[in-house]
Amino acid sequence: MHRPALEREIQLVGHELAKAFPSRRGHPIRALDERAMDLAARDEELRAALFRFVDVVPACRSAGDLATHLIGFLDEVHDQPPPLSAAMRMACSGAGRAALGAASAASVRHMAHRFIVGSDPRAALPTLARLWHDAIATSVDLLGEATVTAVEADRYAARCAAALDVLAPAYAAMDPHPLLERDSVGVLPRANLSVKVSALTPLLRAEAPARGRDDAAPRLRELLRRADALGAHLHIDMESLDSREAVLELVLELLAEPEFERGPSAGIVLQAYLRDSPETLDRVLDWARATPRPGVALVVRLVKGAYWDHEVVEARSHGWSVPVFEEKAACDRNFETLTERLMQARPAVRVAIASHNLRSVSHAIACNRLQGGSDADVELQVLRGLGDDLGHALATLGLRVRAYCPVGDLVAGMAYLVRRLLENTANESFLHDQATGVPLELLLAPPAT
Ligand code: 2OP
Repeated sequence: MHRPALEREIQLVGHELAKAFPSRRGHPIRALDERAMDLAARDEELRAALFRFVDVVPACRSAGDLATHLIGFLDEVHDQPPPLSAAMRMACSGAGRAALGAASAASVRHMAHRFIVGSDPRAALPTLARLWHDAIATSVDLLGEATVTAVEADRYAARCAAALDVLAPAYAAMDPHPLLERDSVGVLPRANLSVKVSALTPLLRAEAPARGRDDAAPRLRELLRRADALGAHLHIDMESLDSREAVLELVLELLAEPEFERGPSAGIVLQAYLRDSPETLDRVLDWARATPRPGVALVVRLVKGAYWDHEVVEARSHGWSVPVFEEKAACDRNFETLTERLMQARPAVRVAIASHNLRSVSHAIACNRLQGGSDADVELQVLRGLGDDLGHALATLGLRVRAYCPVGDLVAGMAYLVRRLLENTANESFLHDQATGVPLELLLAPPAT
């Protein structure tokens, strides 16, 4: 690709996009403004406390329980932001502790509200319909991960099947939206569900990927059948590195089975923060070229990755080399390289670019245009609650957008919420620049080398 032409196109796209942002408080590019977020100031200790907090979440059975643990963890933070230290003083009395429990449960609930679209798929329908009306497709993610028993895995699979049963007819009844429903490969299903393999089997272990894969396979196979029968799309999320092998093998093996040759539409995730992601892409592309699925080419969702803290802590605790890029620019450069490779690999794969970084998104759009692709041939994905303004701006410009929408209760969603908080509080956050109003030319400049 001709670099100067690409850079010119990126500037053009980026400026167009920034203009389309809903402007609030005179600040055109605004990612965060809510109190719950402010509270989680950019504080290392607070980040670390939050991170440890995730570990106990699966053991919590109620919001009250969660609040008690949250207080315990925040107690360890020495340099608390003022509202927090006032709250901690209150907590010294019994009555105060109860009040704080209630207050922090309320504040957690408030934060959750921003990211979670409903407690179950049916409750989420009004929001999903509003987004569709605003030209934004969705992928519904049923909260819950890291299943510990077979019974839980069965229950999660049943919830996924039930979600497909609710989503498919609900979406079928919505008005047509040609841009969201067809690309040059074929039909794009309206109903789209994202699932996590860690919730489909309790047996995911890095040292024995085959066990997790084989245990999850029957549950995933049933979901693929259901999605196919309903004409829905099933997307299999990628989680931490210790499960990557099992997830990749599982999905590529199942989708190669003859019964799934013509459906359903399905997808996987590629995480650009992993240093070895280019080799993973080689593997996926080899598979895609050897396994043609007419009309339902594999969707590859390119993300930077949401388990950065986990990967760094995990590697350091074992004395391993860190598997993720530790510098934002290196990760951003890799994201662009992978974007270009994915786009060149079409139509063997369909491409979804998931980022809230203005440069990364503008680069993807510009790249597609310079390759002669139609705007329908690249999907741009945002997270509900974090990328809302970006999603609307993209939709306003007639680009094809999908919002990732978690559905479920607070307890099941806590690990997800903490990942979102960690993204927001990281100094090197991919959103930080946008929140602090760095000039547009800088935001659109190529990642430093
Ligand atoms: C996560 O669950 C968005 O899949 C991503 O953090």
